[in-house]
Amino acid sequence: MNVPIKTPSEIEKMREAGRQAASVLEMIAPYIQEGVSTGDIDKRCHDYIVNELGSVPAPLNYHGYTHATCISLNHVVCHGFPDFSKKLKKGDILNLDITVKTPDGYHGDSSAMFIIGETIQGERLCRITQECLYKSIALVKPGVRLSELARVIQKHAEGHGYSVVRDFCGHGIGAGFHEDPQFLHYDGYAPDADIALEAGMCFTIEPMINVGGYKTKVLRDGWTAVTKDKSLSAQWEHTLLVTETGVEVLTARSDEDFSFLDN
Ligand code: MF3
Ligand code: CO
Ligand code: CO
Repeated sequence: MNVPIKTPSEIEKMREAGRQAASVLEMIAPYIQEGVSTGDIDKRCHDYIVNELGSVPAPLNYHGYTHATCISLNHVVCHGFPDFSKKLKKGDILNLDITVKTPDGYHGDSSAMFIIGETIQGERLCRITQECLYKSIALVKPGVRLSELARVIQKHAEGHGYSVVRDFCGHGIGAGFHEDPQFLHYDGYAPDADIALEAGMCFTIEPMINVGGYKTKVLRDGWTAVTKDKSLSAQWEHTLLVTETGVEVLTARSDEDFSFLDN
């Protein structure tokens, strides 16, 4: 495994990429309402990334993916296709996953949940999943092993009766969209994959948490991953930089408060 350590000049480029990804989620948030289609949301994000940010939506043409964003509704775990005929309705929860590639060639990857109208089960799942992300981010610093982060996610999710998806993981990120290491969100590490973090590493944490079982299946379109038991699924994602003293959340948004980080 080759986990890149970013140089100071690469870190500046990662900061810019992270800010850009965050700005897309901030821009689109007020637009995500009942009656809007997931295709509309994707198109707005695409046009903003290209025309306002001067960057590229990294998913487009990535291994044959045909959209700028991934939009995963309700029981869709990840990699949902935006669709102009899919209008949001009350009680829906959706994940919008944004990855930008800047003109410098660096990636920022972040996703957030949006809730349409009211859903008690959906709100609880989204909140616990975000807590899984935050609790693991709080542990990030040099010397900590990936399995230690994974265990806090698994404990929090399973403690609330939920399950942690096994089939998709977080990842190193930089000039590559997906770099080493793979970050599993559950305690399933082979000894040589359970690396210790070092300052200068960039990676994502992006737990996918299900109300029912952890099993997923990919639909015949080759991309859309759904829960096998059709239960609700949620995900939140940030791109992180490991610093000498802790962590920097490169994709932090203005609606978030990271004052709980003690670095
Ligand atoms: N953004 C996703 C991730 O968090 C990857 C999407 S792959 C794509 O890693 F091809 F759908 F873009
Ligand atoms: Co990612
Ligand atoms: Co992503």
